Amino acid sequence: MTTTARAHTNIALIKYWGKRDAKLILPYTSSVSLTLDDFYTDTTVSFNPELGSDQFTLNGTAQAAPKVTAFLDLVRAQSGRREFAQVASVNHVPTAAGLASSASAFAALALAASRDAGLRLAPAALSRLARRGSGSAARSIYGGLAIWHRGEDDLTSFAEPLPKTTLPLRMIVVMVDAGQKPVSSRQLMANTVATSPYYPAFVKSNEQAAAAMVAALAAADFTRIGELTEQSSARMHAAILAGSPAFTYFQPDTMAVWHTVQALRQQGVPAYATMDAGPNVKILTLAPAVPTIQKALSAFGGRLLVAAPGPAAQVLEAK
Ligand code: DP6
Repeated sequence: MTTTARAHTNIALIKYWGKRDAKLILPYTSSVSLTLDDFYTDTTVSFNPELGSDQFTLNGTAQAAPKVTAFLDLVRAQSGRREFAQVASVNHVPTAAGLASSASAFAALALAASRDAGLRLAPAALSRLARRGSGSAARSIYGGLAIWHRGEDDLTSFAEPLPKTTLPLRMIVVMVDAGQKPVSSRQLMANTVATSPYYPAFVKSNEQAAAAMVAALAAADFTRIGELTEQSSARMHAAILAGSPAFTYFQPDTMAVWHTVQALRQQGVPAYATMDAGPNVKILTLAPAVPTIQKALSAFGGRLLVAAPGPAAQVLEAK
């Protein structure tokens, strides 16, 4: 059999940063995200008795991929299948630019591989499986808004969809630098947990923020949603900066965009900035404000991408 699945990336409004169990990928805090329409990964999986090892191509190029093999081992263990698999992924996300391509990648792989192995996982079980590839992938199983509950253990740490909001949410991605990131989020996350004296404060405030975000979304209170979004990002980056060695993903343009967003807000424009494991800035806003923000950031020209909420992970083809 051959199975192709598509999953869209997501941007965390309330961040996931730090694992309390690195093997199971159990996070220290819950997180809340918005899945985006424009950025996605298509992955085709075929378990095949004729293969002598797992094979992986990314955008058509063969890659050594220990993370993919480790992930397929989980699928083999769950399904009882023993064959190796051919995996072909095509990313419609700028890889490793802080646009969380691992989220769409492992969500698409979880869906394609589990189906191809004959499993029909319910969404929570699929989310748990995706989590084992990359934490943020747990949330990309769903369209729109999702919450990943930190949970108590492997069984209870999964994402769920949040009710659809009436707000016309948009995310403007400002590509400050589309190059590969200098430090992987996985490595830096572990370093923040181990060395940043601000990390415990981040955990405390972020867990409260996840609950507050669920309430703000239910109330369609965009100001509160935006404030919580900007705070979670700022507190994550503060914890990173305070680690040892001190480090930041920010570049001069990251700050320039952030200052523009603050100035826009002072003029009454609903716009809030959030940054992930890279220098790019994502601006959470409402559809009517998009042209004003684009104009204010026209110096970035073609490096502005406007995304709307995107759909859940889906099987495109199984044959
Ligand atoms: C800053 O999910 O890429 O984007 O679990 O180690 O694969 P691993 O990390 P990953 O980290 C994402 C971090 C973030 C915030 C977020 O998406 O919540």
